[in-house]
Amino acid sequence: MSAPSLPLVAVAPEIPDDWTSRLAPHARVVALSSEAAASDADIEGVLTTLTTRVDDAMLSRFPNLRVVSNMAVGVDNIDVSACARREVRVGNTPGVLTDATADIAMTLILCVTRRAFVATRDAREGRWGPWSPTGWLGSSLRKKRLGVVGLGAIGAATASRAKSFGMEICYSGPSRKARAEEELRATRLPLEELLTSADVISLHCPLVDQTRHLIDSIALRAMKPTAALINTARGDVVDQIALERALDEGWIAGAGLDVTTPEPLPPTHPLYRRDNCLITPHIGSATIETRRAMASLACDNLIAALDGAPLPHEVGS
Ligand code: DGY
Repeated sequence: MSAPSLPLVAVAPEIPDDWTSRLAPHARVVALSSEAAASDADIEGVLTTLTTRVDDAMLSRFPNLRVVSNMAVGVDNIDVSACARREVRVGNTPGVLTDATADIAMTLILCVTRRAFVATRDAREGRWGPWSPTGWLGSSLRKKRLGVVGLGAIGAATASRAKSFGMEICYSGPSRKARAEEELRATRLPLEELLTSADVISLHCPLVDQTRHLIDSIALRAMKPTAALINTARGDVVDQIALERALDEGWIAGAGLDVTTPEPLPPTHPLYRRDNCLITPHIGSATIETRRAMASLACDNLIAALDGAPLPHEVGS
């Protein structure tokens, strides 16, 4: 039992209790409710997930809030400016999910370019006939070009995997990444040039105003008709209506999406029925080790803020 003098924090109820048990010596823990609760006025910290919307309306429930600690690297669920105006600190969990997310990006690259998901479905549904020289042909990665949009940690880890499959790496983004250029022999290109020249385009940028619908119908029309688009970033980086048209009309060859608009994508959505689109349900960081590490880092951020110490990972600092 925690001492009543400890600060009160609210934790998103979908996070297993034992992932946040180390908060106990530092805080009294309650479940974060989507409805206003009597204890809201006493809550000093919240531990959120990417499905918790933190906006002015939500923040106004918590007059004594000092920290929002998000169990995610992306903070597009949080109005960071509204938090800053209220002097509420924001923490996130970069680093610990880099490999897991890059693994899923590479999985999507391989499954889409080799059409593995179509072949599996056909076999399961009785369409596996005698071996055929032309059965389920995909395309090879060797000597093809990967275009990474946003060469941060996850983009670079994806590029490094793709490089080991023989791909040439180019990237676009707001700043030059000298180390990655050297280690991956990556070339920085303007986005327009990356779009027209890459065989696989993998999105790794954060969702902010400048990247919302970055991949719109103009971008999709600029891509090679043989190219694949991979999105493990956020659904809204892509104009999904335009993507459906691009896949229908053959502007591009295929797409692998770990993120969509909306999430969850309803099972009746036409994208699921396409042979050239593979959808995974936002599982980029879904390994037990990674999710525990994310929860642990989110606890570290929360505890640091309650202590008035620097957060291990503070957004906007
Ligand atoms: C994040 O942390 O932003 C990821 O999308 C979760 O997998």
